Amino acid sequence: MAEGSNATAPAMLVSDIDDTLIGDRDGLTKLKVWLREHPGTLFAVATGRHLPVALRLIGEWQAPSPRYLITAVGSEIHQRRGEDLVPDLEWRDAISVGWDAAAVDRLLGDLPGITPQGQECQSPVKRSYFVQSGGVASDVRERLRRKGIAATVIWSHGQFLDVLPERASKGQALAFLAAKLGVGLNEVFAAGDSGNDEDLLTTAGSSVVVRSDRAELDGLRGREGVHFSDLRGAAGIMDGLERWQGPA
Ligand code: GLC
Ligand code: MG
Repeated sequence: MAEGSNATAPAMLVSDIDDTLIGDRDGLTKLKVWLREHPGTLFAVATGRHLPVALRLIGEWQAPSPRYLITAVGSEIHQRRGEDLVPDLEWRDAISVGWDAAAVDRLLGDLPGITPQGQECQSPVKRSYFVQSGGVASDVRERLRRKGIAATVIWSHGQFLDVLPERASKGQALAFLAAKLGVGLNEVFAAGDSGNDEDLLTTAGSSVVVRSDRAELDGLRGREGVHFSDLRGAAGIMDGLERWQGPA
């Protein structure tokens, strides 16, 4: 969607957590006010973190409470219902088809330059590693391809590698959720800062890359609908939202 062409607020705002939603306190305060003033905008987060850590960070930063949480790099979706958080089992079932975590573990176990992250970062549908360079991501993709193992491989933050079921990523989880809610993707505004946000930012009709010291998303520069903000964290989200809405 062209910048400045939207008179109204987006139907849905979905934000990464680390260094996007959190990191800039003043921006976060402004975002909270904005969300209060735009109750028609459904607020969601999309993070690499698992649910307990995502909730802890949101609490520590007193960030706005999301109605939906896409967690573990899109391998899980949770919906807030009153006090409860309900996992989306349809999504879990959809991504699990044809996925073989044990085969991934066997295949990558002896690859040089790759170390499994802690148990708390693993799940049956998310195998996460530390890697020494982005080149390892290409080796992993090639190994998986040669063995015929379908997977999504995401490299980010200069050190993390996530191996997920083929259908799982932040962007694909967003597409699933938006379809379920009857929200058009051109009505969705997304915000992020690093490599695991890439398909989130391109799946949403409009998005902002908040300022970061990494250049992982530079491939998106110049892409229609993607704005690069000079501001960090939630100040960058506010900057993006202002552009989405256009001049007052
Ligand atoms: C979060 C997760 C980690 C993952 C990373 C990148 O930090 O805890 O497991 O690898 O995001 O997606
Ligand atoms: Mg981030």
